[in-house]
Amino acid sequence: MKRIGVLISGRGSNMTAIAEAVRDGRIPNAEVAVVISNIETAAGLERARGFGIPTFFHSHRGCAREAHDRAMAAELRRHEVDVVCLAGYMRLLSPWFIREFEHRILNIHPSLLPAFPGLDAQKQALDYGVKFTGCTVHLVDEELDHGPIVKQAVVPVLNGDTAETLSARILAEEHKTYIEAVALLASGNFKIEGRRVIEL
Ligand code: GAR
Repeated sequence: MKRIGVLISGRGSNMTAIAEAVRDGRIPNAEVAVVISNIETAAGLERARGFGIPTFFHSHRGCAREAHDRAMAAELRRHEVDVVCLAGYMRLLSPWFIREFEHRILNIHPSLLPAFPGLDAQKQALDYGVKFTGCTVHLVDEELDHGPIVKQAVVPVLNGDTAETLSARILAEEHKTYIEAVALLASGNFKIEGRRVIEL
């Protein structure tokens, strides 16, 4: 049984997709052990409580990055978490945290990395004029939106798209892609060769 900890900063729709997939047995042998936010009013905290999942809030304000991460790691350990999912967690993690959970932290990003890392990836794609974008679930390393890629999905950019319509179409793919990636990580049926994550 793999125990999942989800870090959020906002709405928590990816967290909800993971929690529903766990509940419905689409991520076998897994449990969402805790949902943690750095923002007290994050709507995702309420949604997590609706699933009966324990929640924890720790503000990053006035807190050095590593000290904040150590507080979150203590909570993750208290819930015996094996896999950490970043789901709209809008903070950089300290190298200390990344080493502490090496190869066990997943992030979802709303573009086909390495294109458009950072903030507003959907608007970046629209402004650049690409015809296809999508989403990426990757293992987290010390560089922003950079670690080995676990799953990607492609989403076409349509002529009439705004950042909002494109984001909504990508988000629907994010939910499916994140579930597949978590299921793979929880199964242990993969190996990592350099940057490549290979399913066994
Ligand atoms: C998602 O689109 C996710 O890919 C993005 O934030 C949104 C969170 O939505 N993450 C990033 O941009 C990270 N760089 P959610 O709270 O509804 O899951």
